[in-house]
Amino acid sequence: MKIKVLFVCLGNICRSPAAQGVMQRLINERGLAHRFEIDSAGTYSGHRGQLPDPRMRHHASRRGYNLNHRARPISSDDFDLFDIIVAMDESNRRNLIRLAASPQQESKIVMMGDYIVKLRAHYDYVPDPYYEGAEGFELVLDLLEDACGNLLDEIITKYKL
Ligand code: 4NP
Repeated sequence: MKIKVLFVCLGNICRSPAAQGVMQRLINERGLAHRFEIDSAGTYSGHRGQLPDPRMRHHASRRGYNLNHRARPISSDDFDLFDIIVAMDESNRRNLIRLAASPQQESKIVMMGDYIVKLRAHYDYVPDPYYEGAEGFELVLDLLEDACGNLLDEIITKYKL
């Protein structure tokens, strides 16, 4: 059985598709691609079908990430299909809790901020870059590269991979 991880933000065009790309590369680098399914979704459906924001794609591509996810809203099925549902900020978490249909589904929700270690003194969540400049997108990538490694380490330990 594959371990299924879903990254969730608001629009699914900035933070969560970037998290998906960062996590997928880490998993590939560790030779674990066959053990994982990584996806992303948004709690807002207005960007459905779109590629990630051009600014996110630009900054990610400078670090070697090719982000080609198509935005989609989270569905109730996702709460059954995925093992771990990762919220980027507190607002995302609240939206997800509202959508969860049972305590068991709710228990799958974790905060990306809990895995930020290196930048912990400054951030305990992944801030929305949508109305920010280039630094906002670079910050998102810095936080995601920090957090995804720690999240993956925890999963590897928990599932004895
Ligand atoms: P994301 O960023 O949640 O990281 O994808 C946003 C994308 C779109 C909007 C807000 C945040 N928006 O308001 O359309």
